Amino acid sequence: MDVKRRDFMKAVSCAGAVAALSEAGCQTAGTPARAGTSVMGLTAPPLDEVRVGFIGLGHRGPAAVRRLSRIPKTKVVALCDVYDARVARSVQDVMAAGHAQPACYYGSEHIFKKMCERKDVNLIYVCTPWEWHVPMALYAMQCGKHVVVEVPIAMTVADCWQLVDMAEKTRLHCMMLENCCYGEDELFALTLARNGLLGELVHGDCGYIHELRAGLLDNTYYKNYPLEYFRRHAGNSYPTHGLGPICQYMGINRGDRFERLVSMESAEFGLTDYIKQKFGPADPRGHTSYKSGDMNTTIVRTERGRTIMIQYGRYSPRPYSRINLIGGTKGTLCSYPLRVALAPAWHEWMSDKALAELQSKFQHPLWQKVGEIAKKNGGHGGMDYIMEYRLCHCLLNGLPLDHSVYDGVTWSSLVELTEQSVNQDGASVKIPDFTRGGWRTAQPLGLVEV
Ligand SMILES: NC(=O)c1ccc[n+]([C@@H]2O[C@H](COP(=O)([O-])OP(=O)(O)OC[C@H]3O[C@@H](n4cnc5c(N)ncnc54)[C@H](O)[C@@H]3O)[C@@H](O)[C@H]2O)c1
Repeated sequence: MDVKRRDFMKAVSCAGAVAALSEAGCQTAGTPARAGTSVMGLTAPPLDEVRVGFIGLGHRGPAAVRRLSRIPKTKVVALCDVYDARVARSVQDVMAAGHAQPACYYGSEHIFKKMCERKDVNLIYVCTPWEWHVPMALYAMQCGKHVVVEVPIAMTVADCWQLVDMAEKTRLHCMMLENCCYGEDELFALTLARNGLLGELVHGDCGYIHELRAGLLDNTYYKNYPLEYFRRHAGNSYPTHGLGPICQYMGINRGDRFERLVSMESAEFGLTDYIKQKFGPADPRGHTSYKSGDMNTTIVRTERGRTIMIQYGRYSPRPYSRINLIGGTKGTLCSYPLRVALAPAWHEWMSDKALAELQSKFQHPLWQKVGEIAKKNGGHGGMDYIMEYRLCHCLLNGLPLDHSVYDGVTWSSLVELTEQSVNQDGASVKIPDFTRGGWRTAQPLGLVEV
């Protein structure tokens, strides 16, 4: 046997051994043993009505309560916040939508448990600061409730595993509310991808570029939780808005998976500069050290050899952008503003007229069916309402949810993993396979309807 043939035979037999191991359920090092059974594609008995217990009525929560109150066969039956005035405000909104007065829970950080224990609630909606997401989701599932949680669903890898284990043990839905997966541009991109117009998907650029400084410093967030987090942590602590849609196009956890990442971060310039300008040179916040720099840039490589660049710019004087670029072997789509280039004319973005025609031909079924009502009910141009409408549709019809617990935790695991890489001068960090091999056979999300 010549050398080349011997190398080839060795490679083939190694590949065979790896495939055999993964089929036998063997896991890569560092993957904890499974306590329950996989919830990939989980279905649950159809609900006769979605009865929501809602926790967290600060900036984001009240509008979600109003949207849920306008979804067919859905009502908010209980509300919870630390502050009674916040609960009272949302009670008025629920009743204004024609529903009975919801039960009220307030007064302590642990009162949510009483609400989770209610018999008439079948879905807990968590819209609280980051540190509360996991304890609330775990308790909701322990009480036998499906749970949906704002972004990121968890801030550490250990917490990600806790959510997976609890969902597998209880066989309940545990979904992260990644509303950007339902944006009009994002679902248009998904439609182009599923119809083959972009070819084999190769690379995504995404991010969350949002000038946050004014909001961070006006003391309106609960215990200043974002600023406190930025003081203590480097890394991309808000990766999912840009990343979720790219993973949806590429079928991450469904035919491919994250394999490793590298992450680097600029120093912090803009936050303290802003504080000094706005509040004067004596403000102690302007002399505090913040581990989160102005811009974090991460690159993920997938098992199939594809790449994704993710940025997080939190103190940059720039217009808002999630970038949303997805490139394949036949074409590329990019948002902010929306542009498309398709084979064979890929040297130039399409004309406005050609783009408008493409958008009308490939509008996603969800936007076709509920786009108008979604725009009226609001929430980031309608995508929040579409996400919740689709969620309730799946729960009412016993369908699998669009995003499993594996998706939420995989995207959120970057919070800790990017910090690890930044703290090691951009070293390569492995990303756990939260599906424990299930990604190999799971099917990518199709063009779902309501
Ligand atoms: N998807 C999006 O587009 C989007 C946009 C904004 C915020 N968010 C997410 O929404 C969540 C909430 O953000 P926010 O801006 O509303 O924060 P916020 O600080 O304005 O509100 C949080 C609310 O939770 C309450 N709360 C805190 N601890 C509690 C506890 N233990 N029990 C009951 N209530 C408690 C607070 O009193 C407050 O009213 C965060 O996870 C954030 O990342 C998502």
